[in-house]
Amino acid sequence: MTYPTRIALIAALGGFLFGFETAVISGAERTIQEFWKLDAFWLGFTVAASLIGTVFGSLIIGSPAQKYGRKKVLIGIALLYLLSAIGCSIAQQWILFVLFRFLGGIAVGASSVVGPMYIAEISPARSRGRLAGMFQLNIVGGILIAYLTNYLLSNTGDDNAWRYMLGIMAVPAVLFFVLLQLIPESPRWLVLNDRDEEAEQIFVRLGEKGASQLIREEHRLASGGTRETLFNGKYNKPILYAILLAMFNQLSGINAILYYAPRIFEMAGFNKADAFQQSVYIGLANFLFTALAMTVIDRFGRKRLLLTGTVGMVVFLILTAISFSDPEAADKHVIVYLIGFIAFFAFSQGAVIWVFISEIFPNSVRSQGGSLGSFTHWIMAAIISWVFPIIVEGSAMGGFYSFVFYGAMMFLSFLFIWRVMPETKGKSLEQIQKELGI
Ligand code: GLC
Repeated sequence: MTYPTRIALIAALGGFLFGFETAVISGAERTIQEFWKLDAFWLGFTVAASLIGTVFGSLIIGSPAQKYGRKKVLIGIALLYLLSAIGCSIAQQWILFVLFRFLGGIAVGASSVVGPMYIAEISPARSRGRLAGMFQLNIVGGILIAYLTNYLLSNTGDDNAWRYMLGIMAVPAVLFFVLLQLIPESPRWLVLNDRDEEAEQIFVRLGEKGASQLIREEHRLASGGTRETLFNGKYNKPILYAILLAMFNQLSGINAILYYAPRIFEMAGFNKADAFQQSVYIGLANFLFTALAMTVIDRFGRKRLLLTGTVGMVVFLILTAISFSDPEAADKHVIVYLIGFIAFFAFSQGAVIWVFISEIFPNSVRSQGGSLGSFTHWIMAAIISWVFPIIVEGSAMGGFYSFVFYGAMMFLSFLFIWRVMPETKGKSLEQIQKELGI
């Protein structure tokens, strides 16, 4: 395993924790509701506490990452995950539990900015897509392991099983914290802070050929230094790309499907007992197709993956919508359509989003740009997962309307990717910025 691969894998553990933290609650929420005697509104709030945290986390992390460096901030994030895992597993008062979930959400939001950014900054251009994509592979791995540990723990019949489900996250959090001690600081962040010698040594260890040339190029591009602001007119193009890609990522409906899978399957006529099995199928399809995308992302390029995947998503979303067009006639093919959708999502939007957002901004504003893209993603995730149950419960045709809407959004997204989005495969970060006219 090469040195960049090893350190990218360590940073990508932040993605594993992101996936675990967001999926684990699905197995614990019913017991939590009984334990604290919560009505639907307060249960919703308890579950959403983490999502609210992600919005904050992604918004606030840009400037510490710029000021203190990527490595220190990643270490802070690992500690936050650990605190949240321990806190949730022992909290006796409901309000403390909510607070620890909120802190976990902050860690998720923050790692979605700093994890991919760090990996993009240490990766050689030719394998950057694959390495930054490992972050997404870890997210879906985390989701899958959370479904699995939830299932195993719920089978023990122990009253405290839900506490173990949440507490077990302490294990990967400690591992993340320990392994982070082994990674170097991002050389591109060091250059930004005029620590060229250290940066050069790290570039050389990373196997980067013309390290001094890269450093000179970085200095020329980052003339504004660390004090540069994102909204000074120069960066309108990457800002637009990041916002649109993040919005379309969520407008596909991915998280409505992931967070409410059991409910969707019940709408399609399955019984509750099958819900776990179907979640695992969804998790597995997500994992396998993400892995497949990683093998081709640096050869096919980001755009081709997105275009192929978006066509597939439109087809399967429309098929799902048709299944729900007659609410009386439950259609069990929905599981096949949703797995088809997940496979195409994983192969395209899922594989590309964090890679692309981390590579289109220059050094001096990369953390602010990443933060903006990630913030857009989490706000949209919150809206979509909040609105979905309201629409579905509000109207017998709610399922049909929702999936038609996601399908229409993916059609628009196809046009954006095809006509507007630039290709970034195989180019150095510095070259990408030049081509964007920055
Ligand atoms: C991507 C999405 C995220 C989603 C995940 C599921 O990372 O951005 O919101 O939960 O894929 O695979």
